[in-house]
Amino acid sequence: MRRSRRNRASSAIRDLVQETTLTPNDFISPLFLLEGTNRKSGIASMPGVFRLSEDLMCEEIEACLKLGIKGFVIFPVVEASYKDKYASKSHDPEFFYLMSLRRIKDKFSKALIITDAAMDPYSSDGHDGVVEGGRILNDETLEILGKMALAQAATGVDMIGPSDMMDFRVSHIRNILDKNGFSETGIISYTAKYASAFYGPFRDALDSAPKFGDKKTYQMNPANSDEAVLEAELDFNEGADVLMVKPALAYLDIIQRLKNAFHIPIAAYNVSGEYSMIKAAAERGWLNAEEAMMESLLAIKRSGADIILTYFAKDAARFLKNQ
Ligand code: PBG
Repeated sequence: MRRSRRNRASSAIRDLVQETTLTPNDFISPLFLLEGTNRKSGIASMPGVFRLSEDLMCEEIEACLKLGIKGFVIFPVVEASYKDKYASKSHDPEFFYLMSLRRIKDKFSKALIITDAAMDPYSSDGHDGVVEGGRILNDETLEILGKMALAQAATGVDMIGPSDMMDFRVSHIRNILDKNGFSETGIISYTAKYASAFYGPFRDALDSAPKFGDKKTYQMNPANSDEAVLEAELDFNEGADVLMVKPALAYLDIIQRLKNAFHIPIAAYNVSGEYSMIKAAAERGWLNAEEAMMESLLAIKRSGADIILTYFAKDAARFLKNQ
């Protein structure tokens, strides 16, 4: 008689038949950069995550590298006085974010440094595009995005992460990079990025929530799956090196569909709200944070993600090391 429990009888057999394994090579750690030195500030809705100035961020990157984490996405925390309608600071080479990126990349030449290319952290409207009469303009946004991506590439970072869901952003950025001698700078595209409630804590971290309305005219409807495949076809054809699904846990079916349909790496962004839910429940003693973290990350990988962006990167790598 076939008895499935025989293959679960001891930890030895369970380990032997385990189909999915996490390693620190799977993780990218998102970091929030503050201007200045020796600055560290907590984010109320993301316990354990801090905004860090460059010097402290370098220590953090060092600690992550020691644990085997090799990829980092760095987001700028932009003070309100620097924000404007056209996200001008995003491509000002003197802006602290771009200056820090260059030094960080110089210092950690072997790490994979990724930037986020979208207007929202720099926009006084809190939107990912140029706003006119309450509408988010696509092609006008591309112009700014191109300048932003070029300024970021010029710092030496390895990959640009267009995260705004504007049409043609990948081809626009790819062309500009190629024309300016940055054909080796990669593009990790936020391909299927849904208009999600799970970004709330991130918008607290960067103070980047939309000043009016929502992001539904550019980010995707959570009800749609075929549309994610269309977005992936477009990004693939426009030259994206990696396709990303975001958020991760509520969209495992999308990760799986893209993994099956495309033969380039698939990334999943285990977003701020997904992190905060586990942390908040654990603070109340309602679940075990470590177990819930590892189970979530395993599920994301099992669904087909080759790369996982997660605020748990360091905790998970530490857990794996001590196993
Ligand atoms: C910016 C951006 C967002 C996130 C990553 N890049 C916020 C948004 O689109 O509103 C969210 C990340 C997270 O929640 O962890 N375009």
